[in-house]
Amino acid sequence: MSKSPAILPNISLQPFNTFGVEAKASAYMEITSSQCLMDAIQDGFLEGNSVLVLGGGSNLLVQKDFNGLVLHMRNRSIKLIRQTAETFMVQASAGENWHDFVQWTLHQGMPGLENLSLIPGSVGASPIQNIGAYGVEVGEFIDSVQIIHLSSGRMENLDGKSCGFAYRDSIFKNELKGLVAVLGVTFALPRKWTPRLDYADVARELAAREWKMPTATQIAQAVIDIRKRKLPDPTVIGNAGSFFKNPVVSEETYRTLLAAHPGLVSYPYGDGSRKLAAGWLIDQCGWKGRRKGDAGVYEKQALVLVNHGNATGSEIAELAHEIQQDVFRHFGVQLEPEPVFV
Ligand code: FAD
Ligand code: EPU
Repeated sequence: MSKSPAILPNISLQPFNTFGVEAKASAYMEITSSQCLMDAIQDGFLEGNSVLVLGGGSNLLVQKDFNGLVLHMRNRSIKLIRQTAETFMVQASAGENWHDFVQWTLHQGMPGLENLSLIPGSVGASPIQNIGAYGVEVGEFIDSVQIIHLSSGRMENLDGKSCGFAYRDSIFKNELKGLVAVLGVTFALPRKWTPRLDYADVARELAAREWKMPTATQIAQAVIDIRKRKLPDPTVIGNAGSFFKNPVVSEETYRTLLAAHPGLVSYPYGDGSRKLAAGWLIDQCGWKGRRKGDAGVYEKQALVLVNHGNATGSEIAELAHEIQQDVFRHFGVQLEPEPVFV
């Protein structure tokens, strides 16, 4: 007998995306366990359907109604599965909230993820774009990712080293795009903890509090406070965090740009290439705080696009396109969106 979860027709996606844009999905299924997704696949519910695997909806721009099946990952569990002399191995299900999970690790005395505090979304999405903030990327701590192939129901444990983690990138945005759902992630948190204080904002925040030898919980608190000051709270104003990736350019392009724009903000990115601060490029073009109808650019951070109320996904996409064209005209640099367009 089928144990597949119920399919709900014609569901509003507005509560499920942090931009808060309205769009309907023709079919929706809540996934509360690996087994129930396996059942849905074996019962043929995914066949012939476009599928959107949904976590917290904090990195999505939904531009129109979605004619297909939304699989909303809501499976929950967090377990310490093994300890070695070097590491704590912690396994968390895809549907766990990312920030709550980070807090859990800190309460258990297993530091490592503190710089990634307060990033919205789910554990299952964390490897998709290899979430990163304040000098740390999650891929550094991922031992393996448990996935299910949506066409066959085959489960696989993908080694962290096979995930192709790079800046805002992984195998899940490339070879495996649209083909798998992440069911859970196993993290290897080193027992010998090294605080990561290289990011200037974090160092400044800790210095201001005179925390010279900060604990992981103090670093988390500093990161949370910085983020609350800089980034809009999606429950107050719709957004998906940075709307564009910071572009990486060659050393030659960087030098040419720097000669023309001495204030250019950038960071070394290995092999002589440079990562440019897209927020600075957009800010220089005069976009900070501007709005077109209800689609706008956040007043404190030009890299964040916001929904002031009733913007549609396509209005936000149009604003993004205008910004891309303007930045290209001014600097010859092509900005690439970070959120996934649906
Ligand atoms: P969703 O938006 O639901 O999905 C994003 C993509 O992942 C989609 O393609 C979806 O299909 C896929 N996906 C989701 N879950 C699964 C799964 N279980 N299996 C397979 N595919 C899946 N990101 C950073 O990296 N660093 C930041 O500092 C940061 N700050 C942010 C601040 C704000 C205020 C906001 C709103 C967003 C921020 N983000 C940041 C972006 C976002 O929080 C992350 O990308 C997050 O990992 C998205 O998680 P989610 O569960 O909401 O994914
Ligand atoms: N800047 C401006 N004007 C602006 C915004 C930024 O001049 O309006 C300049 C400032 O000089 C600032 C620099 O750009 O020092 C960098 O800005 P910030 O420190 O805010 O970081 P970011 O590069 O804009 C990145 C990530 C964030 C992450 C922070 C902290 C990307 C695309 N964004 O932002 O991630 O939280 O660093 O590590 O890499 C996300 O991905 O959604 C996200 C929020």
